[in-house]
Amino acid sequence: MKAKFKQMLYGGDYNPEQWPREIWQEDMRMFNLAGINSATVNVFSWAKLQPSEEVYDFSELDDIVDMLAKEGKQIVLATSTAALPAWLVKRYPEVSRTDYEGRRHKFGQRHNACPNSPVYQHYARELASRLAQRYGQNENVVCWHVNNEYGGECYCENCEKAFRVWLRKKYKTIEALNKAWNLSFWGHTIYDWDEIVLPNALSEGLEGDKTAFAGISIDYMRFNSDSILNNFKMERDAIRQYDKDTPITTNLMGTFKGLDYFKWAKEMDIVSWDNYPGYDTPWGMTALRHDLMRGLKDEPFMLMEQTPSQQNWQAYNSLKKPGQMRAQSYQTIAHGADTIQFFQLRRSVGACEKFHGAVIGHVGSENTRVFREVSELGAELEKIGKFIIGSRNESKVGIMFDWDNYWALEYTSGPTVDLKYVDQIWQYYEYFYKKNISVSMIPVDADLSRYDLVVAPVLYMVKEGMAEAIEEYVAKGGTFLTGFMSGIVDQSDNVHLGGYPGPLRKLAGIWAEEIDALAPEHRNAIVFKDGTREECRMLCDVIHLEGAEEVAQYGSDFYAGTPAVTRNHFGEGYAYYVGTVPSENGIAKVLEMACGDAKVSPVIGEETELEVMRRETETEEIYFILNFKDEELVLPEVFAGKVDVLTDRVLEEGEKLKKYEVRVVMCPKLS
Ligand code: GLA
Ligand code: ZN
Repeated sequence: MKAKFKQMLYGGDYNPEQWPREIWQEDMRMFNLAGINSATVNVFSWAKLQPSEEVYDFSELDDIVDMLAKEGKQIVLATSTAALPAWLVKRYPEVSRTDYEGRRHKFGQRHNACPNSPVYQHYARELASRLAQRYGQNENVVCWHVNNEYGGECYCENCEKAFRVWLRKKYKTIEALNKAWNLSFWGHTIYDWDEIVLPNALSEGLEGDKTAFAGISIDYMRFNSDSILNNFKMERDAIRQYDKDTPITTNLMGTFKGLDYFKWAKEMDIVSWDNYPGYDTPWGMTALRHDLMRGLKDEPFMLMEQTPSQQNWQAYNSLKKPGQMRAQSYQTIAHGADTIQFFQLRRSVGACEKFHGAVIGHVGSENTRVFREVSELGAELEKIGKFIIGSRNESKVGIMFDWDNYWALEYTSGPTVDLKYVDQIWQYYEYFYKKNISVSMIPVDADLSRYDLVVAPVLYMVKEGMAEAIEEYVAKGGTFLTGFMSGIVDQSDNVHLGGYPGPLRKLAGIWAEEIDALAPEHRNAIVFKDGTREECRMLCDVIHLEGAEEVAQYGSDFYAGTPAVTRNHFGEGYAYYVGTVPSENGIAKVLEMACGDAKVSPVIGEETELEVMRRETETEEIYFILNFKDEELVLPEVFAGKVDVLTDRVLEEGEKLKKYEVRVVMCPKLS
């Protein structure tokens, strides 16, 4: 595919408006030294651009844009609508959000606008439109960055009214709404749309993040995601009036729960996201997030933000060790990124981010470890970026990820408080990560025929048409894996009656009669046909075979000896059902069988603890070989004799990669 940019963008968030002008020239000098070819500007400047309701002043931004253009930098231009100016909140308090507890917020912080406030919408649209009119034709503006890290909720009266409108459109009649939300429970039947209130701490909220009516809360999440998406579309459309073709994005946040990113991505020209792993985040988890962000459009994405050294907002903001930022960047590229951008280019002097890492530190000079590492990476990307951008990641394994399921699963009251959606997806993803099997994170309505193996852990909500599509996929030879807490509810969070896993029962060839919850200190076991015994925990489905064969059975409790994992021959394919949460080895054993049925293979034949990922152009294959382990690891044999494009060196047989070392090999495609 054609890349969205002429070169791999290398830069990041840049806030010259927070600095005196003498610093700006110094910034330019240092950017050139570091190979920084782009800057993301105007992310939080609304109060400067519009000092009062009637006055707009673009003079400083004009100077910033001119300076960057003169230096030949590519500009990612943000719209500044993610933090409200003080005067706007003072004059129109309703632009601020009302929180879950029902408290209307005062001026302060950011990401603070009510998405359904007509006043906010008016001024945000106006600002985006003026920016596009002014800078839309500027050749150096290569991307629009709308708002910033959209998210959060509002429970104000404007939102309540908008929720009623949204529901009316969806359900048409009060009867349909009463049925969808099962409102005869606890005598909640309503007779008028105006009786609907937002589900927060003052209404249906229960202890923690639970709720008396998950159906209402799920609809609220859908509504809130749509409301905020409307804000994005509104700015996007305002920009499009004056700029017909520059890509428009907004920076997403990986597995962030609040917004249905698959729906969002359809409205975005390119996905961008901010990658902030903690000191203890497994590298495979970061890979999962990248694959999800790539999966949203099934296209290369932008890495809009990462820190060159440390964050400030985590509990423990450890430094990235020498080489770690580089390895993290190549992992990002390996999983589909076409840009590497930092937050931030210069470390701020005050407020809560002064301890956040930056390319230029408080010392202000280029003589820092971080600056040197950024510069070295800049030179490498300058050299090889052009070969990589636009290339694709191809995967034969799809893992389903679905925000409706995310919300529904985590709102359930019972059977256990320990069930977390991303955790469950991660346990399956991890197997593929460790085996270097490329994975696409796919939506539940994906074209399944593109994949040889589809894995759908905790597919709790099976919406209309889904079971039929999965059945057709398996019947035609696909391999499908699901398990406990799947097929249980419909799109309204009401149970599919007639036995679990509901509409997946025929496909799985089993009936799960009961679901046992194990306290954290309790374990059961699964025993495979070959006698292997693996621990399992958290939940255990009590299963009856209805055509499927048993793969493993429970080792203890009153259901000892009954099926825990099953496999059903369905049409030309196979459907696996994992009734519990097995240990890592247990999951691996099941997935090994499933991969065998699906004939899925890793990126390279050789087993290795290195991470090896592949991107492809029409004619070339690009391999990224990364060491995230604490020990030195031997380069897989297939790469011996190939050229490492980073160094132009021929790789030797048996050579070793130290922790965080990277090799990049490009070779013509075999077929
Ligand atoms: C987010 C924001 C940035 C900055 C960084 C700090 O990603 O988008 O403005 O606050 O976090 O890590
Ligand atoms: Zn609101």
